[in-house]
Amino acid sequence: LAACGGGNEEAAQTGGGTDLGGREILIGSDTAYPPFEFVDENNQIVGFDVDMMNAVCEIANCKPKFVSAQWDGIFAALAAGEFDAVVSAVTITEERDKLIDFSRPYLNAGQIITVRVDNNDITKPEDLKGHVVGVQLGTTGDIEASKYVEEENIRRYETIDLAMLALANGDIEAVVADAPTSADIVNKQFAGQLKLVGEPFTEEYYGIAINPEETAELKPAFDAALKQLIESGKLAEIAEKWGIP
Ligand code: ARG
Repeated sequence: LAACGGGNEEAAQTGGGTDLGGREILIGSDTAYPPFEFVDENNQIVGFDVDMMNAVCEIANCKPKFVSAQWDGIFAALAAGEFDAVVSAVTITEERDKLIDFSRPYLNAGQIITVRVDNNDITKPEDLKGHVVGVQLGTTGDIEASKYVEEENIRRYETIDLAMLALANGDIEAVVADAPTSADIVNKQFAGQLKLVGEPFTEEYYGIAINPEETAELKPAFDAALKQLIESGKLAEIAEKWGIP
């Protein structure tokens, strides 16, 4: 989002501080995207993104409060002020940046193809043509798969686990999704049934998505905290904890 309009001028002028004064940050997240955000057996929202925001807020002096939200429409909800931020393995894209704002990038996670273990026909994105391919609706996996696959062969699911389940059941032939999440779901839920195809075929960077009305206050604080977490190796430690390469 361009830094104009919206009556943010005063905030923009006083912005730049990095202490958020202990305020709460209401965070919307589709909490069905392990290992970044998921609900554990104690009904707690956990994962890399939760640990990261705790670490960010320790530095920036804020209190993160994650709430589960539907992925479909999550950026419209953020733009409408329903949340202060969306932290949900969100890839920074130009299209989204028109609607909402982003912190500096915090992780590189490209798209990867998942197939059933007995499939040896699909070895690269070009091979997806002519096959029925599942994605999570409105993700970068949706966008990337749509570059290779005919529209009538794309199946769009509300959550990524529904796409993986459809693949395991034989309803579809492949899934395109973020590599760390695909690896986590395949290894923990579908070992011996599903496998990853090769290496990620895109380069994508995750960012904290920010309500434009709050950018002047939040972005400098988030960016400074992320910079510190990256440089200190703390973010790499959190990634290692959650099995993210
Ligand atoms: N990184 C991809 C995107 O931004 C997928 C993110 C999906 N995240 C989620 N929590 N469901 O489009």
